[in-house]
Amino acid sequence: MTQNPPAPGDPTRAFAFSLPTHIEFALGAAGRAAEFTATFGTRPLVITDPGVLEAGLVEPVLASLRAAGIEPTVFSTVEANPRVETVERAAGVGLEFGADVIVAVGGGSAIDTAKGVSAVLAFGGHVLDYEGWDAVPGPGTPLVAIPTTSGTGSEVTIWSVITDPARSCKTALGSVHIAPRVALLDPALTVTMPAHVTTTTGMDALTHAIEAYTARCSNPVSDALALRAMELVSQHLERATEHPDDLEARSGMMLASLLAGIAFGNADTAAVHSMAEALGGLLDVAHGLANAIFLPYVVAHNQPAAPDKTARIGLALGFHSGGLPVDEAGAATIQGLFQMVQRYRIPGLAETGVSEQHLPALAALAQANLGTPDNPVDMTQESFQMLFELALHGDDRGGRSG
Ligand SMILES: [Fe+2]
Repeated sequence: MTQNPPAPGDPTRAFAFSLPTHIEFALGAAGRAAEFTATFGTRPLVITDPGVLEAGLVEPVLASLRAAGIEPTVFSTVEANPRVETVERAAGVGLEFGADVIVAVGGGSAIDTAKGVSAVLAFGGHVLDYEGWDAVPGPGTPLVAIPTTSGTGSEVTIWSVITDPARSCKTALGSVHIAPRVALLDPALTVTMPAHVTTTTGMDALTHAIEAYTARCSNPVSDALALRAMELVSQHLERATEHPDDLEARSGMMLASLLAGIAFGNADTAAVHSMAEALGGLLDVAHGLANAIFLPYVVAHNQPAAPDKTARIGLALGFHSGGLPVDEAGAATIQGLFQMVQRYRIPGLAETGVSEQHLPALAALAQANLGTPDNPVDMTQESFQMLFELALHGDDRGGRSG
């Protein structure tokens, strides 16, 4: 039986692919922090968040540094959806300490904060001086990233997303100069993640994979990584959620997050992230949760522009077994995603505090997102508003009722 058609694409089309980060993936990799940190400097600024610190996940990193005779300073007050002011405070601690290398231990919030700090420590000024694409003038202070969640992919991307309360929005710095020089991926650090964090960060990884795969600037290498990431999510997310100590499932999800991160770092995110970042910036909703809420709606919206790829996503996720007409396979993909978010008990948009009055502002923020032009369907503020309306009031495709 023939499978659904592989990803469409012109094999003669030119593309570029790069990865500025050296990757070490191993159980116990966090204990090798000193080995990599010492190649860049002797005065590390460790950036983390209170939950990660309390869970003891920074301990192997600090022990490794101290055993090598390196005494770090620790900034541990990064919050979810980190704010401009947090980046500035962390940079102030680093400047006072004379930090010559940064070690980020945590989820996307800690690593994204560290990327902003990398620019400020190297070039001074304010983190918003480096806002937007390619505004960092040269190599930032070297960063070693040690993720403690499996979703963000921030350990291998050039992007730092931070919240600017003055404008009630998220903003981004995108520069190869702030990408981590080294990523130490240690699945053992993820076993203490609560089930809901495992699920929502895993849905972030899945969203990266799907958006990278269908983005206008996708390429054959990012496509291959994205499809493999989807398969890994399909195989491991439920197990990792239900059996937190299952190191095979934890490793599978950390690998999924890594591959999806490399994929979207070389393609892009698109309308799901545009909507999720709008929601995170306006109402401080957790990033992975926001992505999970919008993912099925956007995939359904994009299906006419990417019918073959929509079908292929469902095959990678095990929602159908191939051989179907492409429109039926695409419908199975969409239904499977709606059922997936129900199975993981992802709340509806209304439960995050959103009401009708927020929708125009959310739609405007989503339209302004840097990733929006890479969505396979041309987006407008009106089409974003329609998608927010659908997410707020429900869609009967998966049986969700608001
Ligand atoms: Fe994301």
